[in-house]
Amino acid sequence: MTKKKLIAGNWKMNGNLASNDALVRAIAKGMGDAACHVAVCVPAPYLAQVQMLRAGTQLELGAQDVSTHEQGAYTGEISASMLKEFGVRYAIVGHSERRQYHGEADATVAEKAKAALAAGITPIVCVGETLAEREAGKTEEVVKRQMAAVIHANGHCISEIVVAYEPVWAIGTGRTATPEQAQQVHALLRAQLKAATAQVERIRILYGGSMNAGNAAALLAQPDIDGGLVGGASLKAVDFLQIIAAA
Ligand code: PGA
Repeated sequence: MTKKKLIAGNWKMNGNLASNDALVRAIAKGMGDAACHVAVCVPAPYLAQVQMLRAGTQLELGAQDVSTHEQGAYTGEISASMLKEFGVRYAIVGHSERRQYHGEADATVAEKAKAALAAGITPIVCVGETLAEREAGKTEEVVKRQMAAVIHANGHCISEIVVAYEPVWAIGTGRTATPEQAQQVHALLRAQLKAATAQVERIRILYGGSMNAGNAAALLAQPDIDGGLVGGASLKAVDFLQIIAAA
């Protein structure tokens, strides 16, 4: 089965009203009728702005996080149903920066994925090992443990998620996993998901970590790499459009 690839930009905590305007207009114009799905995951205060800017285009909207809770006394949190009201199609969950700086555990990430799915939002579930874990030969163990928590909490809905393999040592470092290193982990994640759902072919597994205009084509050519989660290079329209073209 051929499924369309997904290229999702993760703006992280970057942007302002003026720069967002220029960036989204340039992406929407440059991508035209892209052969792949394209999304930008923007800081929450800009969801309304980007929702308006993307109207009438193929560009899809994403958030960078979502609460495990539906509503209530959770100061600072944003629920999936709130995101949904702004046309959000995807929500990143379990990004390594959230795991690292906000202490998000595997079980929390799994609950976030569940909350997104319940509101009709596709979670982009991030998994990935640190450099120390890779060097200790623990890559497989770590990504499988992270993935297992999400599979366990989401049952048959697991076929509705997007996975992003993001080796922590490759994020924002300019050090990319080689296409072979990435493919190896993607293949074992695919096998793990296959054991959990008959619909494994629906699941996109993205690569993330210093993906750029120069290395995207080789990564995206791997059999189990179904797209990219792009940080730094998604902030420059020219670079992001080149990655979209490679997909
Ligand atoms: P990067 O970030 O492309 O800047 O390495 C990717 C990510 O953190 O999603």
